[in-house]
Amino acid sequence: MKKIMTLLCTLAVALPALTVTAAAESAKALFADKCSVCHGLSDATSMRMDKAGWTETVLRMKNSNGAYVTDEEARRIIDYLTENYGK
Ligand code: HEC
Repeated sequence: MKKIMTLLCTLAVALPALTVTAAAESAKALFADKCSVCHGLSDATSMRMDKAGWTETVLRMKNSNGAYVTDEEARRIIDYLTENYGK
């Protein structure tokens, strides 16, 4: 019984962390998937911009260059880029 409680407690602590990692992973995967269609990912990863800069860039890719991302995907990619390639 004590073992089960320990297991449950471990899960309760570990699960939120796993969820966060999964969300971060899939934002990264989304970026890798959607933003490598026309040019290398390094076009983006070599740059450092604040959120306004990434918003402008991602929306320009979406609206002018024809990147196929939904509004929700664009938002997640902007957040991912701001977090990892911010300045
Ligand atoms: C449909 C084709 C296409 C897709 C998909 C695409 N891009 Fe681009 N991207 C371009 C073109 C064309 C250029 C160069 C001309 C320009 O800057 O508009 C470019 C240039 C860039 C640059 C260079 C700097 C700049 O501001 O021009 C960055 C950064 C960039 N893209 C980021 C992204 C990101 C992030 C994504 C994913 C959301 C993405 N791109 C998806 C076509 C695309």
